[in-house]
Amino acid sequence: MEGDIVDILLRIKENGTTSFELTLDHIKALLMNIIAGGSDTVSAALVWAMAALVKKPLLMKKLQAEIRQLAGEKDLVDEKDIEKLPYLRAVVKESLRLYPPAPLLVPRETAKKCSVNGYEIEGGSTVYVNAWAIARDPAMWENEDEFLPERFLESGLDPRGQTPELIPFGFGRRRCPGIGMAMAEMELALANVVGKFDWELPVGMKEEDIDFEVLPGITMHKKNALCLLPKLVIA
Ligand code: HEM
Repeated sequence: MEGDIVDILLRIKENGTTSFELTLDHIKALLMNIIAGGSDTVSAALVWAMAALVKKPLLMKKLQAEIRQLAGEKDLVDEKDIEKLPYLRAVVKESLRLYPPAPLLVPRETAKKCSVNGYEIEGGSTVYVNAWAIARDPAMWENEDEFLPERFLESGLDPRGQTPELIPFGFGRRRCPGIGMAMAEMELALANVVGKFDWELPVGMKEEDIDFEVLPGITMHKKNALCLLPKLVIA
């Protein structure tokens, strides 16, 4: 299909191909979902990834070396380059593991009475899935609290909702529909921001001063702003 999401939704509305009447209100609500679900989460995730990298300068250098070697004199890393940046992809996965932007996913409700590990759960119960705790479970993860992107270079684990050990986007049929876009946004933004600039801490601040405290809310944001000084790298 040609055009962007707005063109496509308007075309569906005009063609009348849906089993119900698609109104402009439906379209506005859908766009609102995409904007609300897709911008806050990705921006929170990027701040966590930068904080983790600046805290571990050797990992930052390793990532920059991978990106700069590939990017060379190109102005911007694009989608075609991402396949050739395994360490970048590992950094994004590790960042989503330690700092899932939606740590309790989105509340759901049981459709009917069921039993989980011997516990009887009534139908209509609100369910919170603690994706944060699952991704730091020492029974599944070695050095579970450490930022170690290398763990993803060998493992087939992926945060896209295929493996239950890592579910920042949820799991099953109701998982996030924006996974592809979220991963692409994160990989491209991080590759360009980290590849183009060196990042320094403000005068007087050291790596150990970077904290990982969080603000309350459905999206997990860093409580204290991450202030960094970018230095453009001339190729
Ligand atoms: C790092 C970025 C993102 C994270 C961590 C994330 C996470 C999630 C989670 C955990 C859910 C609930 C899934 C469940 O209940 O099992 C969700 C739902 C949703 N996400 Fe994302 N998301 C991200 C980016 C995006 C993007 C880029 C879009 C759109 C372009 C998007 C659109 C949505 C929508 C519309 C829903 C509701 C789906 C439904 O109710 O069935 N998200 N997301």
